[in-house]
Amino acid sequence: MNTDPTQQTATGWWTEAAIYQIYPRSFADSNGDGIGDLPGITARLDHLVELGVDAVWLSPFYPSPQADAGYDVADYRDVDPLFGTLADADKLIAEARSRGLRVIVDLVPNHTSSAHRWFQEALAAAPGSAQRSRYIFRDGLGPAGEQPPNDWQSVFGGPAWTRTVDPDGQPGQWYLHLFDTGQPDLNWDNPEVHEEFLGVLRFWLDRGVDGFRVDVAHGLIKQANLPDWQEPQEILSGNEIDKPRPPMWDQEGVHEVYRQWRQVLDSYPGERVLVAEAWVEPAERLARYVRPDEMHQAFNFEYLLAAWTAPAQYAVITRSLEATDSVGAPTTWVLSNHDVVRHASRLGLAIGGGRPNGIGIGDPQPDAALGLRRARAATLLMLALPGSAYLFQGEELGLPEHTTMPDEARQDPTWARSGHTQRGRDGCRVPIPWEADAPSYGFGPTDASWLPQPPSWAEYALDRQRDVPGSTYELYSAALRLRRAHGLGRGTLEWLSSGDETLVFRNGDLTVLTNFGDAPVPLPPNAEVLATSAPLNDDTIPTDVTVWLR
Ligand code: GLC
Ligand code: CA
Repeated sequence: MNTDPTQQTATGWWTEAAIYQIYPRSFADSNGDGIGDLPGITARLDHLVELGVDAVWLSPFYPSPQADAGYDVADYRDVDPLFGTLADADKLIAEARSRGLRVIVDLVPNHTSSAHRWFQEALAAAPGSAQRSRYIFRDGLGPAGEQPPNDWQSVFGGPAWTRTVDPDGQPGQWYLHLFDTGQPDLNWDNPEVHEEFLGVLRFWLDRGVDGFRVDVAHGLIKQANLPDWQEPQEILSGNEIDKPRPPMWDQEGVHEVYRQWRQVLDSYPGERVLVAEAWVEPAERLARYVRPDEMHQAFNFEYLLAAWTAPAQYAVITRSLEATDSVGAPTTWVLSNHDVVRHASRLGLAIGGGRPNGIGIGDPQPDAALGLRRARAATLLMLALPGSAYLFQGEELGLPEHTTMPDEARQDPTWARSGHTQRGRDGCRVPIPWEADAPSYGFGPTDASWLPQPPSWAEYALDRQRDVPGSTYELYSAALRLRRAHGLGRGTLEWLSSGDETLVFRNGDLTVLTNFGDAPVPLPPNAEVLATSAPLNDDTIPTDVTVWLR
């Protein structure tokens, strides 16, 4: 295969797609039990067509004890009764396809659920057995093995090791879990694990999915001998080029896994894609996941994390484009997902302040109006960039984080595992509002909602925004339509100016200007305004506004 990046630049639907993340628990509930489900999604697909996205990515719906909201998978080839049946999944895929929407499913290869048959077999088997070698079991340290095998911490807080109990009731070996205790890490040095996941890929490809979002793609391979790592645990590999790489993230061996997967995907008709969830910095390291014979895309978290200032945005956009260009891959852009504070709230916090892992009662509260204003400007800027854009359900409504959720309602394991210091991710996962005056704002037929919806959410409901000029929903759908009509996703970015206060670039026949500064800037003469993230003032562009001009 030709892997010389200078000789090929990727083409295909995914290189310019707008991809909408559905978090099944919180999208639409068909049976009123308070948890979103697959039939609920199918019934709401027309919303996505009307909005104008190209594809959906579904967070996990597989059988699971739900220790981490489904990212603890007990069976990779079925659907949890909570969400429906395999027949419901087939129907969803077929109905999406008939509307021209592609479907990407979530694949969780770093760990299984502790309820997975393999892990149950491992617990029942002896140390050193074939069953145990599918996971990372080790003897403890100390005279009686009472201390964990190394000092690694879990991403959710607390130690990354849990001690098992042998069948005779005696304390046994320890197993590694980079996340919750209910998420034992698989041993990717074991060929059987590779075989199993090749089968899982084929299972879903045969059912017609267009690709996979690969969970914790940078975590599968651990450094041999599992050396201690004195640093606090973060999912972000956080390595400057010249600093040592954490022994659990971004190890060289992961790339061989994805080269093999790519061959499987390429053996199927159509363009099936792999998307890496890899919290890897800097951009040059991340680009290695999207070399021509590996994955197609990787989420651009450096972009998501960038501060809302002209220099920071200029730097991250430029750097992202350069890094992916160097391997012939398209760039991706993302502002929100199910793991971070929604950008309509995040951008309402002080610039340069800390980035909280969840916000609750008693925490500094974001400025909601400022956050929404900046979020709309940020989205309009993002949707003008060449490459593929990821949207998270509800952001098209300008939905904020639930920042005053009672702590008793929280379900993210982060809250308990961090000793109630990190509130975690529940605030962005609240079921979304469809109809202002319906029970659970139209999320389902009853008032039930697995996380409480804030009383203020009626105003964000879809039916309060549709056909309402200037609403966030109308901004998104207009921008997505224009983005398609002007081929922005497959365009090229040319900077026209990059000061401390404003950014201006051209993409095709469009000029895009964002004003980050305190003072309004004049609209260029003879410019036709195709879209604006907030009303203009006479002929000036106010603070925190993006405009698309021709
Ligand atoms: C990914 C998911 C997150 C999950 C974690 C463990 O980061 O996006 O929701 O908790 O992996 O599977
Ligand atoms: Ca339901």
